[in-house]
Amino acid sequence: MRLVLASKNGKKLTEMRDILSHMGVEVCLQSEAGVDVDVEETGTTFEENSLLKARAVMQASGLPAIADDSGLCVDALGGAPGVYSARYGGPGLDDTGRYRLLLENMRGQPRGAKFVSVITCCFPNGDVLTARGECPGTIAFAPMGEGGFGYDPVFFLPQLKKTFAQLTPEEKNAISHRGLALKQFRAELEEYLGKNPQ
Ligand code: IMP
Repeated sequence: MRLVLASKNGKKLTEMRDILSHMGVEVCLQSEAGVDVDVEETGTTFEENSLLKARAVMQASGLPAIADDSGLCVDALGGAPGVYSARYGGPGLDDTGRYRLLLENMRGQPRGAKFVSVITCCFPNGDVLTARGECPGTIAFAPMGEGGFGYDPVFFLPQLKKTFAQLTPEEKNAISHRGLALKQFRAELEEYLGKNPQ
């Protein structure tokens, strides 16, 4: 079975492929399905934005589509940047600029945070599957590690004494918000396909 990913983020594609390929599900980019959709993320929750993205790509491609909406929620910032994680600090910043700004805004603050991922899969017949994963951690005082993307260098896991960026892809997938959401999604998809063979 083929799912079209409602994202242009190659790193997300790799993480999703790693987890879903084990059940014979192929995840492809929008471009590979011949569509180019830029969805405005107008929702205020991960659930809303995830649904907006998956539904738009399903409608444009006519194929089942999967989306992840994710972000970093920092306790001391009232849950920010949250759904605005990719846009934190405005359009002039890249990943490094965004996590530097976060470190500045957190001077002297408690460090508790969590990553959240909501996966939505929309089928052309109107069926929708949703799964949510959360990974608790803290915000490091300085970036560490080279792996991953986004805020990985500053997201610290006290139990491992490492940031996400210091983990191998397998180690990150085993505990990350997206890894947990995808595992829950995989179970839901298996049950769904059992009842609705494609
Ligand atoms: P989305 O594409 O709107 O879901 O944006 C999610 C944003 O949250 C990304 O651009 C990153 O800034 C951040 N993010 C989500 N998941 C991760 C992760 O696993 N590591 C680091 N940053 C992440």
